[in-house]
Amino acid sequence: YVYVAFNVKKENLEKAVSGMRSLNMHGLNVTMPHKMNVIQYLDQIDETAKNIGSVNTVLNKEGILIGYSTDGIGALNALKYNKVSPSNKKIVILGAGGASRAVSFNIAKESKELVVLNRTVEKAENLVKDLSSLLGKSVNVKARSLKETNLKTELEGADIVINATSIGMHPRENETPINPILLRPSMVVFDLVYDPFETRLLKDAKKVGAKTINGLDMLIHQGASSFEIWTGKKAPVEVMMKAAMAKLKAKKEK
Ligand code: ATR
Repeated sequence: YVYVAFNVKKENLEKAVSGMRSLNMHGLNVTMPHKMNVIQYLDQIDETAKNIGSVNTVLNKEGILIGYSTDGIGALNALKYNKVSPSNKKIVILGAGGASRAVSFNIAKESKELVVLNRTVEKAENLVKDLSSLLGKSVNVKARSLKETNLKTELEGADIVINATSIGMHPRENETPINPILLRPSMVVFDLVYDPFETRLLKDAKKVGAKTINGLDMLIHQGASSFEIWTGKKAPVEVMMKAAMAKLKAKKEK
């Protein structure tokens, strides 16, 4: 196999996807801004991808194009890789965009309680509504606005805190979604942002002695899941991790 990147304009998405059939390409990863729009051009959509409403992986199975979403599984596997289990935990997730939806759908069913905080509270409410209709009453899910007072209350009993907003992402590296005084050593702090590799949030969390997980781990694990969908073989996660670290480092030195 070879893995290559194509920059596809919005107006060319349909042709790019059908080119997959004519060129007999075995798989595709799809990223922003095409994750939602690509769905209409595929033949089958996996259940998780349907629930989340986005596809990041396409498998060409003898001419039938099947869409999957591995973003959430990537986050779940990144937690497991770092020896953190979401089961029976209170999880607080910041953000209600595409990344948060993918992670929430995969993590909620394993957790005890999931709180979604978002600047636009309606988006958090919609996500919680979708989660509740899928999971029923088995998991306690709720939506709140991303305000310091709410953060203070919700972070009190939190075991795992996930930043799924873009706060802290390059070039606004000085920003953080959580006032450091709210962080505690017993928390696991997981930031989906991978550029910078260590965000201000993760630096603050480390300072108080909390366990931290960075966005590169999720990026690698979602890629690993895609690899497994395409090849049916176990992905070489350590090799992928090293290659990604080397690329990021080279980019920084440029
Ligand atoms: P992604 O696919 O990476 O999730 P997205 O769908 O654009 O990208 O979502 C970005 C998330 O970051 C949203 O939850 C957004 O909050 P809103 O829904 O209120 O827009 C959040 N976000 C981005 N910048 C923010 C900021 N400065 N303060 C608070 N939240 C922010």
